[in-house]
Amino acid sequence: MSVQRWVLLRHVSAAFPSSPSSRSCRTHVLGSIRSAAVNMAEEAKKRAAYCAVDSNVQNNQVVGVGSGSTIVYAVDRLAERVREEKLNIVCVPTSFQARQLILQHGLTLSDLERHPELDVAIDGADEVDAELALIKGGGGCLTQEKIVAGCSKYFVVIADYRKDSEALGQQWKKGVPIEVIPMAYVPVSRMIAKRFGGEVNLRMAVSKAGPVVTDNSNFILDWKFERAQNWREVNTAIKMIPGVVETGLFVNMAQQAYFGMEDGSVKVRKAPISE
Ligand code: 5RP
Repeated sequence: MSVQRWVLLRHVSAAFPSSPSSRSCRTHVLGSIRSAAVNMAEEAKKRAAYCAVDSNVQNNQVVGVGSGSTIVYAVDRLAERVREEKLNIVCVPTSFQARQLILQHGLTLSDLERHPELDVAIDGADEVDAELALIKGGGGCLTQEKIVAGCSKYFVVIADYRKDSEALGQQWKKGVPIEVIPMAYVPVSRMIAKRFGGEVNLRMAVSKAGPVVTDNSNFILDWKFERAQNWREVNTAIKMIPGVVETGLFVNMAQQAYFGMEDGSVKVRKAPISE
C-alpha cells in the first residue's frame, strides 16, 4: 500500500469511529478510495502503453504483442496508429488472449513460422527491478512471452507504478511463476523448495475446479522465494530441472521499461549497458 493511501485510510478510520451508521459511511468512503486507486492504476497503464507504442513502433515492423491488462491499451494505440497513419504492421501474439486482441482490433496476425525475427516486442510485467530484471507470468503466459521476447531485436516493458521496484520481491508478493509439465509438478515443487527455500504452490483456477492450465496445456507453480538471489543463476538452475518448461524470470531481456506514474508522468528506465 502506498504511503498516501495508508495516510488516507487512517484519516477515514478516525473520521468514522465504530457505530452502525458510521460503519456504513466508512465502507462507502473506503469503496470510493479503492475505486479511485484502481482508476489511477488504469490511467497509469494506459499512459505507459501509449508512450511505448508511440516511441517504439514504426512503419513496416513486425511487433510482438504481450499478454495481460496493460497490453490491451498498447493494442488500442497500435490499432489507432495503424488506422490513422496507414502503417503496415504485422503482429505476433504471446498467448490466446493476445491473438484475440490482434484479431478484434483488425490488426495483421502472424506467427513465428512466418516471422521468426521481430523488430520489437511490447509486454507487461508483474515486477521490474532496477536493472530491468522482470517477474512475468501473473497471467500464466510466460513461456510464449519469453519465446517472443527472445525473438525480438528490442523488448519493451509497460507497467504502472506498482510494478516499479528496486529488487524483485519488494512489490510482487505472489512469487515467481514457473510453467511445468503436469506429471512433474510435485517433484519440481519439492526440488525448488529444497534447493532455493521458500514455498511452492500449484496455481489453482478461479472459475474452474482444479489447477490453471496454460495455453500450452501445462500447469503453473508459484514459487514464493524468501530472499533476493542471483536471478540469472536461479533462472538457469530451475530450467535444468526435468519437467520445467520455463520460468517467469526475464533476466537481461528487456531494453526499456515505461512506467505510468501516480502523478500522470511516464518514467522510462533503460537497461544497464552490458559488458
Ligand atoms: C502474463 C504476464 C503479464 O504481462 C503480467 O502478468 C502483467 O499483467 P498486467 O498488465 O495485467 O498487470 O506476464 O503472463
